[in-house]
Amino acid sequence: MHQFFPANVAAAAEAKLNFPVIWGMVCAVNDIITSECGISNDRKTLDACTIVIFGASGDLTARKLIPALYHLYKENQMPPAFRVVGFARREKDSALWRAELRTALDQFSRTGPVDDKVWTAFAANLFYCQGDLNDDAAYKKLEAQLTEFGSGPLRENLLFYLAISPSQFGEVVEQIRRAGLLNKEGAAWQRIVVEKPFGHDLASAQRLNRELTRYAHEQQVFRIDHYLGKETVQNILMFRFSNSIFEKLWNRNSVDHIQITVSEKIGVGERGGYYEEAGALRDMVQNHMLQVLSLIAMEPPVSLEAEAVRDEKVKLLKSIRPLTPSDVARQVVRGQYFAGIVGGAPRPGYRQETKVKTDSNVETFAAMKLFIDNWRWSDVPFYLRTGKNLPMSASEVRIQFRRTPNVLFAAKCGESLDANALTLRLQPNEGISLHFNGKVPGMSLRVRPVRMHFSYDSEFGAYTPEAYERLLLEAIAGDATLFIRRDEVETAWQIVDSIRAGWEGRPLTNREFYAAGTWGPIAADDLLAQLGHTWHEPQVIK
Ligand code: BG6
Repeated sequence: MHQFFPANVAAAAEAKLNFPVIWGMVCAVNDIITSECGISNDRKTLDACTIVIFGASGDLTARKLIPALYHLYKENQMPPAFRVVGFARREKDSALWRAELRTALDQFSRTGPVDDKVWTAFAANLFYCQGDLNDDAAYKKLEAQLTEFGSGPLRENLLFYLAISPSQFGEVVEQIRRAGLLNKEGAAWQRIVVEKPFGHDLASAQRLNRELTRYAHEQQVFRIDHYLGKETVQNILMFRFSNSIFEKLWNRNSVDHIQITVSEKIGVGERGGYYEEAGALRDMVQNHMLQVLSLIAMEPPVSLEAEAVRDEKVKLLKSIRPLTPSDVARQVVRGQYFAGIVGGAPRPGYRQETKVKTDSNVETFAAMKLFIDNWRWSDVPFYLRTGKNLPMSASEVRIQFRRTPNVLFAAKCGESLDANALTLRLQPNEGISLHFNGKVPGMSLRVRPVRMHFSYDSEFGAYTPEAYERLLLEAIAGDATLFIRRDEVETAWQIVDSIRAGWEGRPLTNREFYAAGTWGPIAADDLLAQLGHTWHEPQVIK
């Protein structure tokens, strides 16, 4: 079972709930002691193991994986004994690899300056194994390296992290199997962690899945979507299913529509080559956004076991109404940024970015209206949008409730009373806000939207583990809840493929461009206007 509570939730046990209301009054719920439940990752229960990182000289290893392992170690979350073996082509020894990683950690540590003593103790567990991914001899060397760790769990419990191109997954899995490092009998375990992209369409994802599962069982494959490692994304399920007041409203009877925004202030920068093959739809929608959507909209699982949660997510993805090319024309908007100003600084247009074709049609923005054809959500529009070079970096889900009949206040306050809304702020300034109407104090009858706000920072302190820390720990523990199952990936590709089919052969039109630093093309506003809706800009919450 997965742990859905923040690891340091103990700090909250004494905390009191405090809901500031922005129209001046403070609605404080005092003397409520939060009760705490949950299972924390207990260091003693994690098996000793070795993590083998393929792609050990790469960016992901230096920026994310090693910093994550270091922080887990620092916080006493790693198994009592562990080793990390970095496998890569470049010629170097363990001492040099450790020195390189230390330099990277100085740059990427999320907790400020690296603690020398902790680093020295941690780094003693790091070993480098030089070799070519397609060279049999290299895997013999790897096997010999593992054997040096003894004949116990450090040799047998193996987490293979494939921080390499997906085109090499098949080869590596076959090689580790041939080297006798995979599917060993007995109590030991071996797992394979893979990074996106899981293919570029349904057919390639199926191929990749076949390659991965030719020598490993599906239960051994842990597909990462780093959004699932984010504290607030995990909190969606906790919020929905541990509170009685919201779940009753979580359906077509009360919800008017839902907006999911993942906006990014950054452009594609140095990643033009990758982005030309991906675009916003493959880069963000196929994975992160559909994952968030499925957690927001899925039915309660029968338990918190990995398969139960993933069954519900797949069911939800399968209920998304298929899009024909003419639906795509009406319901999906793409955009590409041209030169503009973001945060006061000039940004080049997408077509001027390095490694981008000067007549590229790749979308850096996508917005869509999806419907979920099930009992709970029938006819409720789900609006999704994501883009690069937008005015701010923020990920937010807004549940917009239905309006009241407004027979009482229309005469005095006008027609436009705001509808209630609940906003789940996924990042930054993680928190949850409830929007409702309140009377402005004074003699006249004036109504104004106000907000009750819960902030992670003020409630639980600033501790937010990095997504990779959580995900690595879960993979070591063998809990697949936060990883994507084969059928999830494939169902998500079906949705994305149908959108791509609608765009096929249609160059971008003028209405599909937007200036860097704006909220996307005008067509994205028109998409919501069809049903009288408007996008809500993510709030800047302090
Ligand atoms: C990655 C995408 O998966 O997610 C990037 O490839 C994107 O293009 C990133 O910038 C966003 O992640 P986060 O955690 O910064 O929201």
